[in-house]
Amino acid sequence: MARRPLLAGNWKMHKDHLEAIQLVQQVVYHLDEQDYDRSEIVVIPPFTALRSIQTLIDGDRLQIGLGAQNCHYEDAGAFTGEVSPAMLAKLAVRYVVCGHSERRHVFGEDDETVNRKVRAVLAHGMRPILCVGETDDEREQGLARDVVARHVQLGLDGVAGDRMDDIVVAYEPVWAIGTGKTATPSDANEMCGFTRDQIAKALGSDAAEVIRVQYGGSVKPGNVAELMRQTEIDGALVGGASLRADDFAAICRYHRL
Ligand code: PGA
Repeated sequence: MARRPLLAGNWKMHKDHLEAIQLVQQVVYHLDEQDYDRSEIVVIPPFTALRSIQTLIDGDRLQIGLGAQNCHYEDAGAFTGEVSPAMLAKLAVRYVVCGHSERRHVFGEDDETVNRKVRAVLAHGMRPILCVGETDDEREQGLARDVVARHVQLGLDGVAGDRMDDIVVAYEPVWAIGTGKTATPSDANEMCGFTRDQIAKALGSDAAEVIRVQYGGSVKPGNVAELMRQTEIDGALVGGASLRADDFAAICRYHRL
């Protein structure tokens, strides 16, 4: 069954709100109906640019979606420095990245926290992009599959199978993020397939058929087409290359390459 690819640009801690507006305008300049028909295209700027990009999308009726990089799992409260899912939903945010490896490894988020975020995002009518993937060390020790299985099982714990259309899982091997090293297309495909098997265990095989599994880790114009040709890969979560309009637009136009 055909799953519509999701191409999402995670800008991380880059671009102020003015630069963000410029980048989105430059990206959409290169895209047309064929690209939007083919894939769902989403930008994931820092919190400070969400409102500006939302206004731009609304005002110019752009066909791209808006995502956020993180959120807290509570609706409101004494959590200095945090942003709630309710606040993001009000900004017409469609996707929220949950458990990105930088959140897990730099900020110490554990599986339980990530799971709470996934459930809170769904509860507010948004879509989580649950990130899973092993570090270099874990891979060296032959633990890649164990780690991915744990991330998927615990990340989707308590999630109702009827929300499957709203769930995205991104397989992102940590050793490939921001390093220029990409998993080979066949390795990436195999691990995305394994990720899907774990989704089937957590939510059933119907859900696993529908849920999109993205690959992330040094995706760029030169490797995106080959990655997207793989049967188990339903999109890309793009970091570095999404900060350059030409590169991200080329990634969104992969089907022409
Ligand atoms: P990268 O980042 O494309 O720069 O490797 C991917 C990610 O962190 O989602």
